[in-house]
Order: sequence, then structure tokens, then C-alpha cells
Amino acid sequence: MRDDFSETTHFKMDKAQPRLLDNTGQGIVGAPLDRPDGPLKVSGTAPYAADVLPTGCLHGVLVRATISRGKVTAVDKGSLAGVEGVVDVITDPRMIRNPAQGMAGEAPVQTGDEVHYHGQPIALVVAESFETARDAAHRLKVTYEAEDGVAVTPDTAEQEVGDPDTAGDFNAAYDGAAVKVDLDYFSPSHVAAPMEPHAAVAEWTGNQLVLRSALQMVRFNKLEVADSLGISPDAVRILAPYVGGGFGSKLGIGPEAIAACIAAQKLGRPVRVVMSRQTVFDSVLRRSETAQRVRLGATKDGRIVALSHDDRVSNIQGEGFAEPVSQASQFLYGADGLSFQQTVARPAMTPSGSVRAPGEAVGMIAFEAAVDELAEKLGMDPLELRLKNIPDTHPMDGRPYSARRLADCLNDGAERFGWADRKMRREGDWLIGMGMASAARTNMLIESAARVRLTGTGAIVETDMTDIGTGTYAILGQIAAEMLGLSVEQVEVRLGDSDLPGASGSGGSFGASSAGSAVFMAAKTLREELAKRLGCEADDLTLSGGIARGGNVEKSLADLVDSEMVAEATIEGGKTAKESFSAGFGAHFAEVAVNEWTGEVRVRRMLGVMAMGRILNEKTARSQALGGMVWGLGSALHEEMMNDTRDGHVVTRDLANYHVASHLDVPRDMKVVFLEERDDEANPIQSKGIGELGISGAGAAILNAIAHATGKRVRTIPALPDRVI
Ligand code: MOS
Repeated sequence: MRDDFSETTHFKMDKAQPRLLDNTGQGIVGAPLDRPDGPLKVSGTAPYAADVLPTGCLHGVLVRATISRGKVTAVDKGSLAGVEGVVDVITDPRMIRNPAQGMAGEAPVQTGDEVHYHGQPIALVVAESFETARDAAHRLKVTYEAEDGVAVTPDTAEQEVGDPDTAGDFNAAYDGAAVKVDLDYFSPSHVAAPMEPHAAVAEWTGNQLVLRSALQMVRFNKLEVADSLGISPDAVRILAPYVGGGFGSKLGIGPEAIAACIAAQKLGRPVRVVMSRQTVFDSVLRRSETAQRVRLGATKDGRIVALSHDDRVSNIQGEGFAEPVSQASQFLYGADGLSFQQTVARPAMTPSGSVRAPGEAVGMIAFEAAVDELAEKLGMDPLELRLKNIPDTHPMDGRPYSARRLADCLNDGAERFGWADRKMRREGDWLIGMGMASAARTNMLIESAARVRLTGTGAIVETDMTDIGTGTYAILGQIAAEMLGLSVEQVEVRLGDSDLPGASGSGGSFGASSAGSAVFMAAKTLREELAKRLGCEADDLTLSGGIARGGNVEKSLADLVDSEMVAEATIEGGKTAKESFSAGFGAHFAEVAVNEWTGEVRVRRMLGVMAMGRILNEKTARSQALGGMVWGLGSALHEEMMNDTRDGHVVTRDLANYHVASHLDVPRDMKVVFLEERDDEANPIQSKGIGELGISGAGAAILNAIAHATGKRVRTIPALPDRVI
């Protein structure tokens, strides 16, 4: 008999939780286990969105605007008359939208026939083959009514100046400070460009839509699709079982998916749309460039009394997102007066949105470099300055911190890296220096549901959560196995199907904690029922090797479970829990060699020491932290999106022209150390976000090392050779 306990658990995260996962005794959670999806991925058998080609599938290629701003006046389908195999040109106004990247599933802001930036998708050419569609997309004649004098650079565009966030009196504190720095920084736009380009295959059966697409947040994406098409969410099913990276660029539904859905419905055949790498660069949300000003004032003995971090970012007109540049600057160190002001410029450039660690990834490069300059001006060890200014409570609102081992990370890292022996030295033409920075990234909990089905011989975990290369399949299986006394091989994890219970999706480093908590809660419900059936208290129950024990009783799971026990649990989002403030903290250390003639920077070694709550899988966690640090290195030294200053089009449109850190740029000596931590206030499994902490601050450690080696402070990143010498 199938017993369903799905209604029994709806959990709100508002108090400290028992450390159940520490007492289950299996040692599965936390273990560095391989990802079960790994072999499928490396052997090319994991079906990504574009891999499933339904019978009769047509191919669509997006046509992109060649003006900076204005209106499409005509799309001349006749211009394709001679091209054999063209089926249609779709110009539905619902498609000429570039949806806002949001989690609420709200409608896109751009509507109709308006063009907001060069490269914006405006039509879809559909053909019998991809090659024909691509050829026809190049040939299609489009006429426009272009606006004159459109500002395509942040400097020349309209500026929206926001109200500052403040605590205390910054101006008074800064005026009275004995030692001050006032520094300007600039960072260019960044692109996410995950390995798997954005792709969608849409197929209708009557009024029911199945969309296979590369997406991070299926539950929200389903609402966005329904909203964009003007249909009921019940008519939409999204499948995204495997996603080849996202980094934020697949948080929201994209034009390729909406175009595929509209074309497939109109033509009565499935339609596949895959973006080229160039289209990804041109039209997928970028990370905004930033101009930042950091002002710090301190007493002579190094107590920071005034702290200000202002920034200017950009986005197209009407878009709500603005890179939260000073996010970590607001909670990392205390001061008597703090002030943070943001300005948003409105140039006609590709819209900006979340790219891995929005805010911290670039904000902390500037902020932690400025802290280093303050230390230099004070004649103080930068490590000591940071240790001295760790606040007791959140400097903006007085909230207590939840688990926070910032000082431990700084001290532990300094010890391991040999900070005490830090000395600039020379090896031939190479100048060697060492730098460090704090790491910090906000921690979030997003509503998530999961279902766990237990049979006598194993369990199945079901949720619409995604695995974007981060290890979701592994960790959700581990949590269920740990809780239910099974091996990971006995647990099957099913993800990325919007018909399954709706999870947080993958974003903001909240996926593992949110979806993991839901799996934990569902499994906990099953444990409680098993204890009842066994006749013991839930606290006395132990489960391992398929055997349940409690008091003097012992029974096999097969005896306790008729055919199947099912429990579904929902964890509520924790964003409203105002009692305490949860974030991940750490410390980055870097040693660089700078060629004194060419300005070339080689990173010799890097170390990240991090405390990010319970580690759910030591291997996947380490990979996330390392990946973040590599991106931190790339931001500091390589990555730079360039736009033409005449029409705003993206110039660096592929991975040849936009340089990401490659194998030889990354040092062999790259270490990640996790300090043991449990965050009782973050969520029931006491974990915190990992994916984005690794990047947050890593680039600053490199800039600070360059300064130590050369005496040169690079304040425009990337630190290209001509900026270093
Ligand atoms: Mo992340 S940039 O929220 O996927």
C-alpha cells in the first residue's frame, strides 16, 4: 500500500534546528562522493536541451537588430523567396521581448516592435535545416526607424542617481578621520557564456506545451513562459534534466525559448532554437561594467570610522536589475558612519543581469583593494587591519550574525600561506609579491519543495530543482541516503521537470541549501513514520544498511514499508527572517610574479579558506570554490567585454576575443580549505551557499599581490600588462 504523508510537513525556518544530520551516523553527507551524472556527461549521453530532436523538428535562428535603438518597420519575407527550405519568418511581438531576469515570473519589460540595443533578437527564421535557417537569417531584409543620437556608452547615457543607504554620519566621520583613502575603480562588462549555449526545443500537443531548455530555475521559468505567451501555467511543462552551466545567464527565460514556443505553435511542428556563441555574447544578459568610488577613514591605530562605497552601473531603460556592487561592503566591516549610493546609467547596450555572485564578484575587487591601500597608508599589516575591524553586529541594521568564522579563516589562511614571511622579492626579471583579501557573500534560502518516495529497497527523490554542473544530483541523493539508512546507489534523484515539486532552482548559491532542506524535511517525515511503525521515539531511531533499529526492536525496511511511503515537504524562504544575518565568509591569498619589462602577471599560487556552513559533499563543494577562484583570477587579469562606442555592438563576441582564464593561466598550486561550521539559523541542514563565495574577493587578493610585487595599484581591471607597468 502507498502511504502518503505529503500534507504533513510545511516547514518555516525560524528557529535553531536539531543537528540531525550529525547524528544519523552514516557519514554520507559531507563525503567527497562522485557525481552520479558525471559518467553520463563525459560520455556525451546526458541529454542536454538541444540533444533531443523530436520527429519532424524544424530549426530556428534568431535575427538580431542592427540599430542601437528604435523600431522595426518592416521584415521583408520576400527577401528569402529564393532560399529553398525556409518555412517561415516569425515576427510575433511577444517574441521581440528580452525578458527581465527575475524570480517572480513577471512579464518582460520590453514589448512590441521596439529595439533597445544592437543585437537584440527581433525575428526567428525557421527552416527545414539549421544551415538553411542560418543562411536565411543573414539574408533577411529588415527595415528600421532608428533613433538619432542614442547614447551607447554608460558615460554619455542618462544617469539615474539613487538615494544613499546610510548608517551613522559618514561625512562627519570621514572629516574627522586621521588617515583616509578616496579611490576610483573601473571594471568592464563580463559575460557568463556557459559551455552549453542557450537552447530550446518546443513541442505542442494540442494546447499543451513541452519545452526542453537550458534553464536554472524551472519553477519560475514555467511562469515566465506562461506569462510571455499569455497561456495558463498548467499548459506548460519544462524539462531541463541537464544544464551545461548557467552562472546566472539561464536564471530567466530567454528569447530563444519564447521564439521556439511561438514558432512551434504556429507551424504545428516542433522547433529547435540554439544560440550561436556570438549570439550568446550579444544578447544574453551581461554583468554590468562598474565605476566605483571607495572612501575609507580610520584612526591612526587602524579602526575604520568612515566607510563609503558608491557605484555606477548600467542597464537598458526600464529594467529593474542593477548590479548590487556594495552588497558585501555593507556587512563586512563596521564604522561609525557608512554610506552607499548607486547610480544607474541607461545606455543602449545588451541588458545587464545576474552573473555569478552579482555584486560581490566585482564590488569586492574594488573594496578589498581599497582596504589594502588603507592598510598601506596606515603602515599596518592588511591582515591585521581586517581582523581589527570585524564588527560585532551588522553595521547597517544591528542584526546579529549567524555562524561567522571570518577571523578564523583569515588567521588559518595566513598561517597556511606563510603570510608572516611575506616579503617582496625578485627572481631575475620577475617581481614576486603576496596579497590577501576577505571573502564574503550573502546567504539566502528560497522556498523549495521535494518529494521522497521510500520503498523497502531504496528511495526516489523528486523535485524540479536543476543541476547546472554544480552537483545537485549527488548532494540530494546523499541527504536522502543519510537520512534513510540507504547507500547512495539505492537513491535515484529525478530533477529538472516542472511537473515535479517546485524547488528554488539554481541561483544565488541558494540551490543546495534550499532544495537540500526540502529533501531533508521530507526524509525526516518518513523517519518519524518509520519510528512509529517500529514503536520507538523518533530520536531513538537509527537507520542503516536497510535496517531500522530503536530501543530493543530491529526490523528491515522491507518489513516496515508495504510498497511505498511518500512524503513531500516544503521549506519556506528565509528572506523574511530578520532576526539574524547569514553570509558565507572566508579569506583569499595569492602570490604573483610580475615581469618588470612586459608587465605580464603570472599567478604562482592561490589559497581560499572558507567557512560556509555544513559541507554537503566535500568534492563538489571544493570544485565550486575552485571554479569561483579561477573566475576571480580571470576577472582580475583577463576578462573584458568591449562594445563599439558608435553603435554599442559587442566587439569581443567569442571565447577567442574575450579571454577567460585558461589552463595555463591557472596555478597548479591552488588550494581550498573548509573550516568546519554549522549555521543553525540559515536552514535545517545548517549549510550555506558555496557557488559564489569562491569568486568574491579572489580578484582583490591578486591585485593586492601585484601592488606588493611592483608598488603599482591597478584600479582599472583587468590588470593587463600595459596597466601593470
Ligand atoms: Mo547566480 S548569478 O544567481 O546564477
